[in-house]
Amino acid sequence: MKHPEWVKHKKLIEWVEKTAALTKPDNVAWADGTQEEYDRLCQLLVDGGTFTKLNEKKRPGSYAAFSDPSDVARVEESTYICSKRKSDAGPTNNWMDPKEMKATLSKLYDGCMKGRTMYVIPFSMGPIGSPISHIGVEITDSEYVVVNMRIMTRIGKKVMDVLGKDGDYVKCLHSVGAPLEKGQKDVAWPCNKTKYITHFPEERSIMSFGSGYGGNALLGKKCFALRIASTMARDEGWLAEHMLILGVESPKKEKTYVAAAFPSACGKTNFAMLIPPKEMEGWKVTTIGDDIAWIKKDKDGRLRAINPEAGWFGVAPGTNEKSNPNAMASASKNSIFTNCALTEDGDVWWEGMTKEAPPNLTTWRGEKYDPNSGKPAAHPNARFTAPAAQCPSIDPQWEDPAGVPIKAFIFGGRRSNAVPLVYQSVNWNFGVYSAATMGSEMTAAAAGTLGKVRRDPFAMLPFMGYHMADYFNHWLQIGRELPNPPRIFGVNWFRTDENGKFIWPGFGENMRVLKWVVERVRGEAFALESPLGWMPRYKDMDWRGLENFSEEDFNDLMSVDSEIWKQEVLGHEELFSKLYDRLPKEFLFMRELLRSSLWRSPSKWGMEPERF
Ligand code: GTP
Ligand code: SPV
Ligand code: MN
Repeated sequence: MKHPEWVKHKKLIEWVEKTAALTKPDNVAWADGTQEEYDRLCQLLVDGGTFTKLNEKKRPGSYAAFSDPSDVARVEESTYICSKRKSDAGPTNNWMDPKEMKATLSKLYDGCMKGRTMYVIPFSMGPIGSPISHIGVEITDSEYVVVNMRIMTRIGKKVMDVLGKDGDYVKCLHSVGAPLEKGQKDVAWPCNKTKYITHFPEERSIMSFGSGYGGNALLGKKCFALRIASTMARDEGWLAEHMLILGVESPKKEKTYVAAAFPSACGKTNFAMLIPPKEMEGWKVTTIGDDIAWIKKDKDGRLRAINPEAGWFGVAPGTNEKSNPNAMASASKNSIFTNCALTEDGDVWWEGMTKEAPPNLTTWRGEKYDPNSGKPAAHPNARFTAPAAQCPSIDPQWEDPAGVPIKAFIFGGRRSNAVPLVYQSVNWNFGVYSAATMGSEMTAAAAGTLGKVRRDPFAMLPFMGYHMADYFNHWLQIGRELPNPPRIFGVNWFRTDENGKFIWPGFGENMRVLKWVVERVRGEAFALESPLGWMPRYKDMDWRGLENFSEEDFNDLMSVDSEIWKQEVLGHEELFSKLYDRLPKEFLFMRELLRSSLWRSPSKWGMEPERF
């Protein structure tokens, strides 16, 4: 049980010993992060029935797992921010008094690792040693978590070397909550009906119990890199965001970096790895991150961003060689697939990978697939865990410790109406307002009501570590401190026609929108004033290769319906009254200015020819 000689951090050793005394594992193992360790744990998972080794010829070095049917996504109703004061968690979070929560958890953790090995994983969020990076240590009783963490973050001895004898780290305690009595056989996916995903922002620690899935269990991701980090960012003057980061290279080889926030399962991975239509020669997108951005000011007052992660935990369904070849290539080897279907020749499949399902599939529930059953072969929130370094579009600077300079922020939700394809907020403050009031239809990434529009400020609703309105103030304050803040844009790929079909082709075609964004940032593109901000006209966008998308289609997609927007503003008000005690005073004025411009407009503000 003794720690290895490369662990020299006394307080950390004490915490590990204390945790072992409480959770009572059979063994304690420190993850060194080596390939040998990874292979050994994967074999253990195969032997235990959690992993199926995939066909080495089709998908080298890869494994598939089926979770328990009750453990398939984040559990927002069991997620708590346990700040000392309830008001600091704010009205958008569940809260419990930290002492009370710890009392509840201590009972659950008592003996919860019996019959299992307790792993200690030192990990770095961000390139090791970068001034933007931070370190965490996750204790877990799940081998599945260790091997996923090795892909998603940088783990092991090299991180301990940086942490040294007394470095700061975020304490991340995780248990699947399924102790094994002597002789009891383990199940393929241990978990517990009782689940708690809890955060203690003042002491920068996380305690997660009962789930082995994704953000509930890989604690570096949402728990640390967003919920705890957002609190650190508030205190220290930086930003921890649910954003992808990409680079755009123009035909003149100018590089512009952009960060974009979309809610879960709304297209961050696809956008981050976008391949432009071939007709848009010379334009190229490179990938830094697909889910989380940590952004700090440099000494010249520019915002510089890193991806704190080292892998993609991407939504599988809908990903294919056309929609996202870079994601397909990333996950072509050395990857882990969770809740995808299995093919008869030892590969994985999911809805949307190919038009026709291959024969004799095994579903994510381990059953024979029946295409007529109406039940999907892969779970809608099935995911692949793939090393970022395997992504063909990975940016050469993706591990640059200095980060990349961000010139634009893009916010986008899933809206079948209301929000046009693209607009630019008139300034930072209005951009913050529109990000704060963003609505989106709910997806399978969280247990909840599918399709329901909810306010998802900055795509951070499930990931905020403190009072949402304080966060709005923080964003306003960041803007005040920047000599030349990034420009802020809104997008919506998801508008539908009267038959419920997406109007915009999306995916690679989103390059047309991105190009306009980059040109606006560089002062190279024209825009027209609208109630929401600045918008491109048809002729301001590049349509090479998409000639069948007519000006009329475009105008449809860009229309702003005053009646719908008057309702939308009422939705803003609903959010504001919820956040009333700390809402930025500016927001009320901005809301009224928005209302005023809607009042002035024709009922459907649009691109009528007489306007230009
Ligand atoms: P998290 O990892 O959950 O934070 O989500 P993400 O934003 O990375 O999700 P991802 O990129 O994997 O989104 C997947 C879903 O978005 C799938 O249903 C895709 O079909 C859909 N999607 C992505 N891009 C587009 C697009 O341009 N148009 C349309 N209509 N759908 C898109
Ligand atoms: C999300 O839901 O936004 C994700 C997946 O990125 S998870 O890590 O499971 O939260
Ligand atoms: Mn996410």
